[in-house]
Amino acid sequence: MNIYDIAYRFIEENKLDRDEYAFLIDRRNDEKLKSIITDEAVRRRKMYYGDKVFTRGLIEFTNICKNDCYYCGIRRSNSNADRYRMTEEEIIKCCENGYNLGFRTFVLQGGEDPFYTDEMIVRIVKSIKAEYPQCAVTLSIGEKSYESYKLYREAGADRYLLRHETADEAHYRTLHPEEMSLSNRKQCLYNLKELGYQVGAGFMVGSPGQTVENIAEDLCFLQELQPDMVGIGPFIPHSDTIFANEKSGDVELTLFLLSVIRVMIPDVLLPATTALGTVDPSGREKGILAGANVVMPNLSPVDNRKKYDLYDNKICTGEEAAECRGCLERRINSIGYRIVAERGDRQHTGTHKEEERIIT
Ligand code: 5AD
Ligand code: FES
Repeated sequence: MNIYDIAYRFIEENKLDRDEYAFLIDRRNDEKLKSIITDEAVRRRKMYYGDKVFTRGLIEFTNICKNDCYYCGIRRSNSNADRYRMTEEEIIKCCENGYNLGFRTFVLQGGEDPFYTDEMIVRIVKSIKAEYPQCAVTLSIGEKSYESYKLYREAGADRYLLRHETADEAHYRTLHPEEMSLSNRKQCLYNLKELGYQVGAGFMVGSPGQTVENIAEDLCFLQELQPDMVGIGPFIPHSDTIFANEKSGDVELTLFLLSVIRVMIPDVLLPATTALGTVDPSGREKGILAGANVVMPNLSPVDNRKKYDLYDNKICTGEEAAECRGCLERRINSIGYRIVAERGDRQHTGTHKEEERIIT
């Protein structure tokens, strides 16, 4: 079958099988194919979200982690990492500052740090929700039991981010130590869905050993899971890991995949990630132009940002980045989009009319 026919059928049905995804990715440098997919992604993005870009205030509250993922700079065996933990008060203070800057979603992200008991997480979530009932609270604190997820949810947490990292069993094994498993990771995502969270999955583009078939598998997994959010960004080597000498993931491939994901799940919340902005100075703008509709600037105290060191050369970690809100606003405006002070929930109905469809 012709690649363009496959692309048109993808647009028609919002899904493909594994081999077809692989074929699509293989042919991503074909200009006509690229514009079919990108134009449709942008059209769908505009249909659901217009020119709005949602922001999430990211609070990286601990870089202590009990896991040892081989690619990650804050893995437990990296003895060079300068570790920190924020207090409950410091976290709340960040939200206060973020609220005043216009943020209406707070993302609490951290390593898997047992210091923060379920009780503490519940207390933090409750105090944020009590202070800012109109804001969304997103947790991104790794794999936990069903019971823990349930407690956080009952405390008021709205969303949860847990990238699956790779949906291929063998590839997963090469990126993670023995004690971690893809099946548990997937189970966590299904548990979170069942508990009524808005759920975010995702993967790194160009992680060591990743093949086109692996990415096709990631797309199939997303198609099956139907997450509310998908976080993808290029892999970037960290100098203190075994992958120090690997190369970074490809910007063009990341952009193509953002468009593919937008076509697959038209109303998905799709961030233009910090990693994308790190491998290319205008990566985040390019991400928005490929179909992304979310940016997640850092709200953590500037001192901590350098220490939340997942990969080398991470942007927004210097003194000049004390206020990412203004910087991002200018960047987003320059490409004809605008940042809005909204919670930014998933939009289930588009405004388009059927006859406006470019391809039928
Ligand atoms: N390069 C790019 N992304 C990374 N992450 C972790 N380490 C790296 C790296 N070296 C991503 C993972 C994780 C998210 C918080 O950051 O996908 O889920
Ligand atoms: Fe952080 Fe520009 S967004 S410095």
